[in-house]
Amino acid sequence: MRVVVLHDGNDLAEWRTHARALLADGLLPSDVQWQVGEIAGLLPADASPADDKPAVKTGTVPREFLSLADTVLAHADARRHAVLYRLLWRMTHGERHVLGIASDDDVAWCEQAAKAVRRDMHKMKAFVRFREVKQLEGSVFIAWFEPSHAILSRVAPFFVRRFAGMHWSILTPARSVHWDGQTLTFGAGAQKGDAPNEDALEALWLTYFANVFNPARLKVQAMKNEMPVRYWKNLPEAVLIPGLIRDATARMDAMVQSAPTTPKKHIPAPVERIAMSLPDGSIDALRRQAQQCRACPLWEPATQTVFGEGRDDARVMVIGEQPGDQEDLAGRPFVGPAGQLFDRALAQAGIARDALYITNTVKHFKFEPRGKRRLHARANAQEQAACRPWLLAEIERVAPKAIVCLGAMAAQAIFGRSFRLLEQRGQWIDLDDGTRAFATVHPSYLLRLPDERARHEATAHFVRDLSMLCEVMT
Ligand code: URA
Repeated sequence: MRVVVLHDGNDLAEWRTHARALLADGLLPSDVQWQVGEIAGLLPADASPADDKPAVKTGTVPREFLSLADTVLAHADARRHAVLYRLLWRMTHGERHVLGIASDDDVAWCEQAAKAVRRDMHKMKAFVRFREVKQLEGSVFIAWFEPSHAILSRVAPFFVRRFAGMHWSILTPARSVHWDGQTLTFGAGAQKGDAPNEDALEALWLTYFANVFNPARLKVQAMKNEMPVRYWKNLPEAVLIPGLIRDATARMDAMVQSAPTTPKKHIPAPVERIAMSLPDGSIDALRRQAQQCRACPLWEPATQTVFGEGRDDARVMVIGEQPGDQEDLAGRPFVGPAGQLFDRALAQAGIARDALYITNTVKHFKFEPRGKRRLHARANAQEQAACRPWLLAEIERVAPKAIVCLGAMAAQAIFGRSFRLLEQRGQWIDLDDGTRAFATVHPSYLLRLPDERARHEATAHFVRDLSMLCEVMT
């Protein structure tokens, strides 16, 4: 009997090195015992099989097997190393095509294990909830999650893509992962108490969840399948679920009895798609040409044109008003305080900034110098009109399915001057070309609210508005 002790029971490279050496020595699967961890007396200092042996050629195994093994090794079942070695042995001893036999016991076991790992990854992507921890250098978002399998390193890249601009950590019992905006690092495991458990974000999320819950669509079993009860304890919204389920019948009766809502009035879009001759070419070509724009006097004192950024095939376009001081210096929209608030609200609504195209109605910073400071000044009607061809060109090239206007200036650029933000906020309006659009408040309005409670509520409302975009994101 050969005892193999793995340092990391989830690592394909390490398992593969041992498996190759065992094959080369002709070790039958029944003669191998697999263990994980440094168990005293079992792991000699030079235990790594490849260290002192010449590389042994054991023939190639299908790429499909390596990919399956990579996923199966993340499973928590202690039998995984042995089952994989048995499969490898069989593939290299006359059963090369065994992977194609779905009814084979070893193959079926591995497929089940791989499926469980993939499902666990899906659940982690869906159920991780970050909580904000304010620090002197800015906010850090921390989440606690208890995966069933060793999936952290597999799922971490998803969170990097999704929350690239935030600093976050995900803590699990076995390991933790941290993103500082640039580097991903893995550390030791943690305890649930290491993650904060309540804050403002949680209140916002609860409000959002209660608002999007549709009693007419309640299917308790489906809900439990999709959101298994074992995850509920870490989900802030789970405290609402029993109450929402209890009240669902009454709420649905009320929905049935209430008067039908009148269809929303169609407001023809005044956005004249191509009013003036537009620069040709891609968004990048437009961006380069806009750097030379002299259509109004704002270009002169400004540092640069702040053109839109993001995916040129985005399903959603966000239109703000005009760049501020920091946007002017960085040459990018929404990177200053309003942009940071916007990023947090997007994250709370579950929307990735990098899936959007973000631009402004006016592309230059307008300001009045006060000593060393540059005070924001609102672009007037002529300046807005001068910038209009660029905005129209961006809409035409990106061809988004939906547009969200942040603030009255953007709303009036899209819906016309009669648009009233206070009355029509958060209502989908069909534009003439089939694009859907709605307007909400500008994040700088939220920053200006003096009363903390009012700001909190207004921010929750803003997050709810942004959540309307989820339906068009996929
Ligand atoms: N406000 C805006 O409308 N746009 C920006 O890019 C920044 C602040």
